[in-house]
Amino acid sequence: MKKVNTKNFKKTLSKFKTGVTVVCVKDKEFTFGKTVNSFNSLSLNPPLVLFSLGNYSSSIKTYLKNKFLTINILSKKQKTISNHFSEKNPKFKKIDFINGKHNTAIIKGCISNLECEVIDKIKKGDHIIFICKVLNVHYDDLQKPLSYFNSKYC
Ligand SMILES: Cc1cc2nc3c(=O)[nH]c(=O)nc-3n(C[C@H](O)[C@H](O)[C@H](O)COP(=O)(O)O)c2cc1C
Repeated sequence: MKKVNTKNFKKTLSKFKTGVTVVCVKDKEFTFGKTVNSFNSLSLNPPLVLFSLGNYSSSIKTYLKNKFLTINILSKKQKTISNHFSEKNPKFKKIDFINGKHNTAIIKGCISNLECEVIDKIKKGDHIIFICKVLNVHYDDLQKPLSYFNSKYC
């Protein structure tokens, strides 16, 4: 074992294969999206999930003030959407959204989507953990997931 530093910490975590999500919030009529792989399930009853965002993110204030959001789990065909929403201040691109019940934006064509209410935010280190109650869900059994491993899509 080696003493941890930023470089070997990042490399070690990159060996954990994850799915890829885009978390969307609406601010007035503009939709913000962020590519996130820190998503995880938290509780079955009540249905809770979590993810974390860097407190240095360009749009952190928008995420902190919104009560409702969507977590869109990307399919293998949606790598361009993941690349788009991992850019700093992504320029407008035509993404197909569906309106959710709570004035949220749901990305079309995903393997699954969750419409959530943020019930808690916990600051830890340089990230903020968002605890979300899942209100509505959608899934597609025919799609394959987009995965991320060793800092690459797979
Ligand atoms: C596969 C992948 C997963 C990511 N997961 C997270 C994450 O869980 N939390 C986070 O804050 N940023 C994550 N990012 C980085 C953000 O998508 C984005 O690049 C970063 O927040 C910088 O842009 P911003 O300053 O506009 O927020 C991830 C990026 C990629 C490509």
